[in-house]
Amino acid sequence: MVNTKDNKGSNILLIGFMATGKTTMAKEISKKLAMEYIDLDKVIEEKIEMSIADIFERYGEEYFRQVEKQCIKNINQLQDTIISCGGGVCLDPDNIVNIKKAGKVILLEGSPETILSRIKMDRNRPLLKDKDDIEGIKRMMDERKYSYHQSADIIIDTSGKSVLNVRDEILRAINE
Ligand code: S3P
Repeated sequence: MVNTKDNKGSNILLIGFMATGKTTMAKEISKKLAMEYIDLDKVIEEKIEMSIADIFERYGEEYFRQVEKQCIKNINQLQDTIISCGGGVCLDPDNIVNIKKAGKVILLEGSPETILSRIKMDRNRPLLKDKDDIEGIKRMMDERKYSYHQSADIIIDTSGKSVLNVRDEILRAINE
């Protein structure tokens, strides 16, 4: 593993399971800190000119991961930007190295119950299509937990907290 501690970029990256509020928080923090924000899923959608759901359906997950990896490689060009990453970014060891280099990595966590209540009716999350029950979500979270924790500089639990509470907690943690 590359030691990136001493040479971190100036970005703030939000990672975590689907529907933990990464995009919402990226917007909130960017307003407070007067920094630009980008959503990596949106970058991919614009690049391929297709929704995430359509990319999965038409080209499959492997193709999506290739495009995602390419976009992550390019984030070292960004500075002072809040970057909301897709929930699967940390599944690839090269991506972990690249996001750690790019800046401070904040992991947002949420209970399976919270996630389930947020994803109901959301059709743009292909990986949860057949796993939209507590057990399915829990299993997937457990499989990913190690990668998420390995990537994170800061961990914030969002369960049962308001958007503003989570935002302030993130801001405090960044300044510590
Ligand atoms: C994924 C999460 C999604 C999106 C894609 C794959 C994942 O992003 O990148 O559907 O593997 O967890 P969000 O975490 O923003 O939903």
